[in-house]
Amino acid sequence: MKSEFEYSSDCHLDDALRFGNILGQCFLSTPEQEQNWVNLMGIENLRFIRHNQEIVGGLATIPMTQWWGGETVPMTGIAGVSITPEHRGTGAALSLMQHTIKELHHNGVAISVLYPATQRLYRKLGYEQGGSFCGWEIPAETIQIREQPLPLKAVPTDSQIFYELYTKQAKDINGYLNRAQPIWHRIMKPSDKDTFYAYLIGSVEEPQGYMIFSQHSENDDAILRVRDWVVLTNAAATTFWSFLNNHRAQIDKIRWRGSLNDYLTLLLPEQTAKIKYTQYWMLRIINVEKALSARGYLSGIERELHLEITDDLIAENNGKFILSVANGRGNVTKGGKGELKLDIGGLAPLYTGLFTPQQLQLAGKLNGTQTALVTATEIFTGSSPWMADFF
Ligand SMILES: CC(C)(COP(=O)(O)OP(=O)(O)OC[C@H]1O[C@@H](n2cnc3c(N)ncnc32)[C@H](O)[C@@H]1OP(=O)(O)O)[C@@H](O)C(=O)NCCC(=O)NCCS
Repeated sequence: MKSEFEYSSDCHLDDALRFGNILGQCFLSTPEQEQNWVNLMGIENLRFIRHNQEIVGGLATIPMTQWWGGETVPMTGIAGVSITPEHRGTGAALSLMQHTIKELHHNGVAISVLYPATQRLYRKLGYEQGGSFCGWEIPAETIQIREQPLPLKAVPTDSQIFYELYTKQAKDINGYLNRAQPIWHRIMKPSDKDTFYAYLIGSVEEPQGYMIFSQHSENDDAILRVRDWVVLTNAAATTFWSFLNNHRAQIDKIRWRGSLNDYLTLLLPEQTAKIKYTQYWMLRIINVEKALSARGYLSGIERELHLEITDDLIAENNGKFILSVANGRGNVTKGGKGELKLDIGGLAPLYTGLFTPQQLQLAGKLNGTQTALVTATEIFTGSSPWMADFF
């Protein structure tokens, strides 16, 4: 039977305008704001779903890579999934996403990540929780760190050195993005109504980090929002805090994005930093063999894991696979004993290390022999996955 929805990746200017209007209605913003967003994403990255030739929804793909175990894995972010209200509840979003996932697989993408407005929809498509996105807040007067081992220097918010410093930090954080240009753009090029400030931490010749921030009033509080930060040494971490501490005469609260268990708070004298909001982003394994062999693993580990995977959408992801890990790399071959059984959704939080294999078994996400659970724990356990960017 012919599907009533038609998928298209061929976008003309009038399609982009129509999609901008749909986005504006779906996300409570103006068509102008959404048109800017569409331009930023690039019309070649838009995908649509049509019904009787008319565009009834769409999304933006953001091609980039993501750091896993010290290696970058080809990842496509999905943003702005939207369906006109009159076509909701008819499977339009499901159809749009199914086609997109198949296209990503065809194009050689290994994994995909998105921020869900509803988990239910994306779980049906093989996405599962992959890592955290978390906002922290601290009353400025409670920082109390005065020692400042490094100098700071004000620099332009679009300094090229940020790319290099960011990459040095990103490679050690599971889940960090190798940011696509639209994501950098939002950090480096504020809109006219915002003023951003940027500082290098350390000497100009040998910087050890940076921070970009803005300031605003909210109710009766003056807030300093750290928009982006990189801290590469303990001296830089201490300097990060002492610099923020020096704002306490006027600033009431400091906000920044960090991991769910953020080591930056370990430098503080008391537990006055609190999580203000937290959310899990979802990840889908698009190509099992590519995803498992592109990421890095702990270099001292030499193990073999026998998996059996089911995937309703991508035929090639089904069956038994052996993951052999040695010298920090993984090699995938077909076959084996299938000692760890899971569907493609269950593989996501295992792959990212968000939960341990035992926890995933308790949550009904996988089923394994005791040996397979121990092996999987050794292979996938790492630092808690997170990212600082929302898209
Ligand atoms: C979310 C949205 C894209 C869903 O579109 P849709 O075409 O209605 O979704 P579908 O009909 O394909 O639904 C597929 C499945 O997801 C479920 N689903 C869809 N929206 C849901 C919601 N808001 N809450 C819970 N489940 C939802 C459906 O119930 C269906 O599952 P079922 O078959 O078990 O009932 C649409 O409501 C929308 O555009 N919302 C505004 C923008 C938005 O929030 N986008 C999401 C950004 S991540």
